[in-house]
Amino acid sequence: FDYDLLVVGSANADLVICVERRPGAGETVLGSDLALHPGGKGANQAVAAARLGARTALLARVGDDAHGRLLLDSQRAAGVDTAGVLVGGAPTGVALITVDPSGDNSIVVSPGANGRLTPDDIRAAPAAALLTASRVVSAQLEIPLETVTEVVRGLRPGARFVLNPSPPRELPPDVLAACDPLIVNEHEARVLLGADVGGTAVGGTPEEWAGALLALGPRSVVVTLGEDGALVADASGTARVPAVKVNAVDTTGAGDAFTAALAWRLGAGESLADSAAYAARVGAVAVTRQGAQASFPTADEVAAG
Ligand code: RIB
Ligand code: NA
Repeated sequence: FDYDLLVVGSANADLVICVERRPGAGETVLGSDLALHPGGKGANQAVAAARLGARTALLARVGDDAHGRLLLDSQRAAGVDTAGVLVGGAPTGVALITVDPSGDNSIVVSPGANGRLTPDDIRAAPAAALLTASRVVSAQLEIPLETVTEVVRGLRPGARFVLNPSPPRELPPDVLAACDPLIVNEHEARVLLGADVGGTAVGGTPEEWAGALLALGPRSVVVTLGEDGALVADASGTARVPAVKVNAVDTTGAGDAFTAALAWRLGAGESLADSAAYAARVGAVAVTRQGAQASFPTADEVAAG
C-alpha cells in the first residue's frame, strides 16, 4: 500500500466568529473579528492523519477560487497527496461557525463543490488509483451519499473502511456492512437508530446504543461520549475508553482528528480499543487550541501531552 489513509470527503472554508451566546430567531448579537480557516470534515481528517505521520491522500472537490487555493495549500503544507483533489464545478464549500465561551460550536455548511463530488469522480482516474493504493479509507457525509456508496464498491479487498456519518442520515445496508468501524457521537447514534432503541426514545446506556448500532450491520462501532470518553464495540464485546481531561478552547474539528487518528492506528494493526485510546489523546490536544486543522498535534506532541 502506498497510503496508510485515503480520506474521501469535504473541504470547506471555515468562517468563524466567537460569540458570548448564539442568537435566537429574529435576534442579532455582536461577536469577535471574523477568522477564516481551512476546514471541512474530509480535509480536516487528512491534515490530522498526515500531521501524525501517516502517508495520506485526500479525494475531494473544491472550487476554482481563493477558498479552494487556501484548502489545497493547507493540505500540501501538511504533506497530504492532493492528486485526488478535483477543482471546479461550483464554489468551494463554506462552513459558518460560531464558537461559544465553553468551546462548543454550531455549524451551517453550504456544500458547494463538495456536492459535486460524484460517483463518476470516484470511478475516474486519480480516485480509482488512490482507492487501490490505500490500506484504510475513511469518509463522512458532507459529500453525496451515492458517492460514499461508490467508494464502498471500489474498495480493494483487504482495505478497511471507516465512516463518520456526519451530518447523519439513514444509510444503505451495503455502506453499513462495510464500516469497520462506524464512528458516531450521541446525536448521530440517535439519528441512525431512528431515535429509538427497544421502542423507547434512546435512553439506556451507551452499551445498549452500541449493541443496537451493531445490529444495523457494521463490523464494529465506536461511540464518542465527549467528556465521558468513548465506547468501542464489535462481535467480541464492548470496552470503555476513558476521557482525557483538558480545558476546551475550541472543539471544532476534534472529532475529525479523533477519526483520522483511529483510522491510522487501526491500519497499523492496533486493536480497536488501543486505537480509540490514542485517538482520544489526539482529540484532547485539538480541543485545547483554536481552529480545526491548526489545532491538530504531531505524534511527538501527543506523546508529550
Ligand atoms: O468537523 C468540523 C468541520 O465541520 C469544520 O471544519 C466545518 O468545515 C464542518 O465541515
Ligand atoms: Na481546536
